[in-house]
Amino acid sequence: MRITVVGCGYVGLVTGTCLAELGHHVVCTDNDAERIATLQKGLVPIYEPHLNSLLTSNMRANRLSFTGDAADAVKSGDAIFICVGTPPKENGEADLCAIDNVARLIAAEAQAAKLVVEKSTVPAKTGQQLKRVLSVYRRDPVVKFRVASNPEFLREGTAVEDFLHPERIVLGVEDEDSEKQLGEIYRPILEAFPGQTKFRCPVHWSGCPSAKSPELVVTTISSAELIKHASNSFLALKISYANMIADLCEKVGADIKEVVHAMGLDPRIAPQFLNAGLGFGGFCLPKDVQAFVRLAERSGVNFNMLKEAELVNKRRVDLFIEKIRQALWVIKDKRIGILGLAFKANTDDIRFAPSLEVIRRLLAEGAQLRAYDQQAMGKASAIFPEVHFCREPQDVSRDGDALLILTEWPEFRQLDWTYIYDAMSRPLIVDGRNLLDPAAMMQLGFEYHSFGRPPAEQPSPQLFATPLLGAFRPSVVQQH
Ligand code: UGA
Repeated sequence: MRITVVGCGYVGLVTGTCLAELGHHVVCTDNDAERIATLQKGLVPIYEPHLNSLLTSNMRANRLSFTGDAADAVKSGDAIFICVGTPPKENGEADLCAIDNVARLIAAEAQAAKLVVEKSTVPAKTGQQLKRVLSVYRRDPVVKFRVASNPEFLREGTAVEDFLHPERIVLGVEDEDSEKQLGEIYRPILEAFPGQTKFRCPVHWSGCPSAKSPELVVTTISSAELIKHASNSFLALKISYANMIADLCEKVGADIKEVVHAMGLDPRIAPQFLNAGLGFGGFCLPKDVQAFVRLAERSGVNFNMLKEAELVNKRRVDLFIEKIRQALWVIKDKRIGILGLAFKANTDDIRFAPSLEVIRRLLAEGAQLRAYDQQAMGKASAIFPEVHFCREPQDVSRDGDALLILTEWPEFRQLDWTYIYDAMSRPLIVDGRNLLDPAAMMQLGFEYHSFGRPPAEQPSPQLFATPLLGAFRPSVVQQH
């Protein structure tokens, strides 16, 4: 099938590339000319595992192309996937300007029937507005438009895998033709047998792990729109819940890791998204929670529960800074090392990352910062010229008074913590992601603080004078 993807951000790029991988002919367009020029050279402007190789192989196979000519792109596709951004407005509502622009463009340029698919995350009832705009601005009265909602559930860092091996494919449709057309688009994924795919899976070269085929969920357009916001908001609630339990653990001397491990063994609760720490960031959860709250307000539904989850999340950075202050006493002039800038591991994305607020506050208090992240330093250095960015993770610790962990990159567990201990003026770690094992860090001689876990005993002054590091130095800090 010929498919047009409008918007070449995370969602559009992964969607367009993976649809080409399924065998469709895909043209992607974006109003950012520089981005299109980069993509036309086969270069991916974001870090997303597997995307680069998939994009170049599909371009070579002539199934995937990029153009700045949006009108031309609109004409070429039988189905048009709208993947433009829906950023938050000042009041938290989703800004739908880009969707409106694309709808008017499609209405003006289409010369044949089109299936217009909302892929961007939008509030319920956007589909109705989309239909209205397409009909009002339609230049050729003979051209028919059908509208569908097909929300994405792609996580940054595993987006390609999530696209090719989804748990569910949600189709919000109003007619059989749209359902059939979308079913045809996703057929290779839907007909994949457990453990086998009908496409060349770039994620699992030696065969995909045995898994259930995805469930096809066909709904109304409004339900599909709501499913997306409701899912992301529930994940946010779950994280904030775990964070509140962590705070309680600190007060009663319990250990959050033990508590959520046992909770997660109940399949009704499930273990994912119960990691306490600095809270949720990124361009999806924070904005989707806000947009969902505003939608509820406008619909006359009191969703205070979600507002509270948002507040809990905002307070995580306050609590983290307080932990640093408690340990350091005075922050001014302290040399602080930072491990991790991205809003989560396996991405270079720093949008709404908790690290940004932590850095802003520490700089405002006069701290001297050295930072490292395997992917996100390019983006962070454009915002914080005052921060010294290091080539190697252990370099952030040099002569440091404290070391902070702000992103859950698993590689940080494997660092040479003995070297880091020796390099620091004061071996203090404040772990915002509960990544390391308190007991192991204490045995290495560190003063170690995290969220919801009994603080590791501070080594006695004698231990600092004659380091015990020769006695016991675990190489792997914590297994998960
Ligand atoms: C999220 C959803 O998980 C996807 O299903 C959805 O498709 C996507 O938004 C979207 O709307 O496009 P993503 O933004 O990539 O995906 O990030 P998550 O993996 O959900 O993580 C969000 C934040 O929560 C990160 O800052 C992460 O560090 C934090 N988090 C996650 C926790 O603090 N604790 C946890 O237990 C899990």
